[in-house]
Amino acid sequence: MNTSSKNKKKSGGFDFQPFVKPALIAGGAIVVLAILVGVAIWLRTLEPVEAFIRKYPGQSEANAVETGLPAWLGWQHFLNAFFMLLIIRTGILVRTTQRPQGHWTRNNKGLIKTKGAPKKISMNLWIHFVFDALWVLNGIVFYILLFSTGQWRRIVPADWDIFPHAVSSALQYASMNWPAEMGWTNYNGLQVLSYFLVVFVAAPLSLLTGLRMSNIWPEDAKINKFYPAPVARAIHFPTMVFFLAFIAVHVTLVFVGSVVAGHGLGGNLQHMYAASDDNQLLGFIMFAVSIVVMVAGWFLARPVFLTPLANMFGKVSR
Ligand code: HEM
Repeated sequence: MNTSSKNKKKSGGFDFQPFVKPALIAGGAIVVLAILVGVAIWLRTLEPVEAFIRKYPGQSEANAVETGLPAWLGWQHFLNAFFMLLIIRTGILVRTTQRPQGHWTRNNKGLIKTKGAPKKISMNLWIHFVFDALWVLNGIVFYILLFSTGQWRRIVPADWDIFPHAVSSALQYASMNWPAEMGWTNYNGLQVLSYFLVVFVAAPLSLLTGLRMSNIWPEDAKINKFYPAPVARAIHFPTMVFFLAFIAVHVTLVFVGSVVAGHGLGGNLQHMYAASDDNQLLGFIMFAVSIVVMVAGWFLARPVFLTPLANMFGKVSR
């Protein structure tokens, strides 16, 4: 504790110091957002800009599909969010915990064997690996279902006009006069590009960089000269920051978008959770259950609860 905080504690005053930086960042972000909104509203008073938006309303025809979201996407999406929450939580713990309370050493008996004595890792990193494995497994099933059902058409850019449509969508969001809601059958350009980046760039990148840092990666692989572990580490963390930014914007738009489209808060939940265009109550109930499961996962995915499981695959020590 620095001297000024000690003095404040002694005098009984409230210590504002820790809140100054976050408050400045939040204030700065609000000012930048307000300027962006102002500029976008002004741009939309110009006829050429409105003509551009009429020509590119947001959705590229090349990404249109006929049916709504399939039922499998509901549980796929929930599992993805659940594993992601715990991966991010344990990733941050790996980064910030100076003295982990527990460690784990693998028994080197499984499918993948390391050369020499297995390295001891923190229990936080072991839990990170457990959820990584489940997330990757879920991701493989997702890729298979996506391509075998033709649903990939929703999120893979299929025509260059996706870029002007994305610019148009950005202008419409920023000017508070939102693009038409057609998520059920056709995402707008910004959605297509961001879902594509998340599914086909950020997710594989976090796997490739994570594996490079892990001790199952062979130390004598030829590629290591061009792909050293510090490079992987320098990419892995910013990838998480990208995921966090995506999640913040995505969740905000899901709820605000429903209200803007006049469906109330549950409007988009029925699509994603109940695979239905009209069952708001079911969508909301399933969403509420998923939040309870996530909160439970957040509290239970700790070394104290997972030690018996970890002992089955290796040895837990202090
Ligand atoms: C998909 C498979 C993944 C594997 C195999 C993996 C593996 C690893 C490993 C080995 C570390 C420890 C790095 C070290 O020793 O410093 C680590 C740290 C971390 N991971 Fe992952 N990871 C994966 C996915 C993810 C994902 C999806 C996220 C978040 C979106 C994430 C977030 C983090 C964070 C924030 C750290 C701490 C990084 C740091 O200290 O700079 N990981 N991961």
